[in-house]
Amino acid sequence: MRQSSLVVVANRLPIDDSQALDGACEWRRSPGGLVSALHPLLRHTPATWVGGWVRGTGPAPALPDVDGVRMHSVALTGDDLRDHYEGFANATLWPIYHDAVEQPEHHRRWWDGYLRVNQRFAEATAEVAERGAVVWVQDYHLQLVPGLLRDLRPDLRIGFFLHVPFPPPELFMQLPRRAELLRGILGADLVGFQRAQAAHNFAQLVTKVLGLPATDRRIAVDDRVVRIGAFPVSIDTAEMSALAGRPEVADRARRLRHDLGSPDQVILSVDRMDYTKGIEQRLKAYSELLAGGHVKVRDTALVQVAVPSRERVGQYQILRERVEREVGRINGEFGRVGEPAIHYLTQPFDRAELAALYRVADVMAVTPLRDGMNLVAKEYVAARVDNAGALLLSEFAGAAAELSQAYLVNPHDLEGLKQGLLAALRADPADVRTRMQAMRVHLREHDIRAWARSYLSTLDQSGSLLTHLTSG
Ligand code: ADP
Ligand code: F6P
Repeated sequence: MRQSSLVVVANRLPIDDSQALDGACEWRRSPGGLVSALHPLLRHTPATWVGGWVRGTGPAPALPDVDGVRMHSVALTGDDLRDHYEGFANATLWPIYHDAVEQPEHHRRWWDGYLRVNQRFAEATAEVAERGAVVWVQDYHLQLVPGLLRDLRPDLRIGFFLHVPFPPPELFMQLPRRAELLRGILGADLVGFQRAQAAHNFAQLVTKVLGLPATDRRIAVDDRVVRIGAFPVSIDTAEMSALAGRPEVADRARRLRHDLGSPDQVILSVDRMDYTKGIEQRLKAYSELLAGGHVKVRDTALVQVAVPSRERVGQYQILRERVEREVGRINGEFGRVGEPAIHYLTQPFDRAELAALYRVADVMAVTPLRDGMNLVAKEYVAARVDNAGALLLSEFAGAAAELSQAYLVNPHDLEGLKQGLLAALRADPADVRTRMQAMRVHLREHDIRAWARSYLSTLDQSGSLLTHLTSG
């Protein structure tokens, strides 16, 4: 078994099997923040990516290296998928970690599946990590891995990063297995969150549930110190800016505007189809603006990209049905022949098409009810090489802590959302420009490499990995 000095452990592998089978393997940019964040970082780094592989009943296939990164698959069965990914991760933890905007479900067999899959990931990681390696465990699907891995391989330096929010104690306390989850995370040497509030919530819970002394920076566990802190994840700003600045992308943006009927203004939203993204609230606000005559279909085009996600989880199926019914209703009521009120797209797009969409959008509406970060908001800013474009951003997205020059709204407040949308549509172009410029300056400095540098320099005090990873 080949071993690496850096191992990233995530629920998903960043490639899919059709690409692997025909030999033309490329990084898969699946819609989702995790792959988007790690992709630019690991390209051409001698690391191993440990990720789940759900296919049939046989063993996980041996996958080729991708851009120099070794792929190590963990075989998952249909039962694992049901109990771990669809069940405990996405129907218990996901709603609790996102302010319980949907009701969390609790089933004992889901917990068994979560433990079983975490155990399998820990064993796979223990096999591929060199002695003294740095292991970076990602996200809420794998919160038990740090503890299980430490038991197997105490020589490793283990980091854990949570891409989603960490909830306040009163919500987390609902979890029947709260103590095991906290102990699992505390197997790490460094626990990273998107926001300082999340680190604070975690410290409070560790004291409340486990009785351990904790501050918002350090927790004493047995004879170890676990560090905690906020490390807001980012994007490859330079890459997105360069892509958006290409003449063919600018041409494509112009063609898109023409195809949309050359409206005065284009509003864009790009989301995974998830109830945390506030899609229904946004549609309602837009429909009321149309009904009130504040926005006219002839002058304004709304493009809603909503790529289906977690389609076997009941709440996601219900959401998709509701969104599609509402889009149909709004188009039926306000659209004209050849002029729909909402241009609704559920397809995955390549990066160049996304960049063109960002460039055509006069207003980008990113209004989740709760979101760990929301990389789409950052991608929009990076793509606006012309310093134009108004970002309408929810206060409840992690990105709001950094992009304070956005037009900030509370998506739970329907009137506020309507006013925010109108304010962004009617904003003075000079004001829009000043705000965009400030956000672009911030993102140039706080890009994905700065994130990795900040996290890994805290985790890997010897610093050897860091030089490698963040150069280039
Ligand atoms: P989440 O992690 O909840 O999915 P983020 O906004 O942080 O949300 O990340 C979403 C990522 O998925 C972004 O990098 C975005 O560009 C990408 N994405 C979203 N929708 C699409 C789509 N239709 N096609 C391709 N990529 C998409
Ligand atoms: O941001 C949270 C997250 O679960 C990421 O880990 C992932 O990239 C994204 O949402 C998409 O989710 P899924 O992997 O379930 O499609």
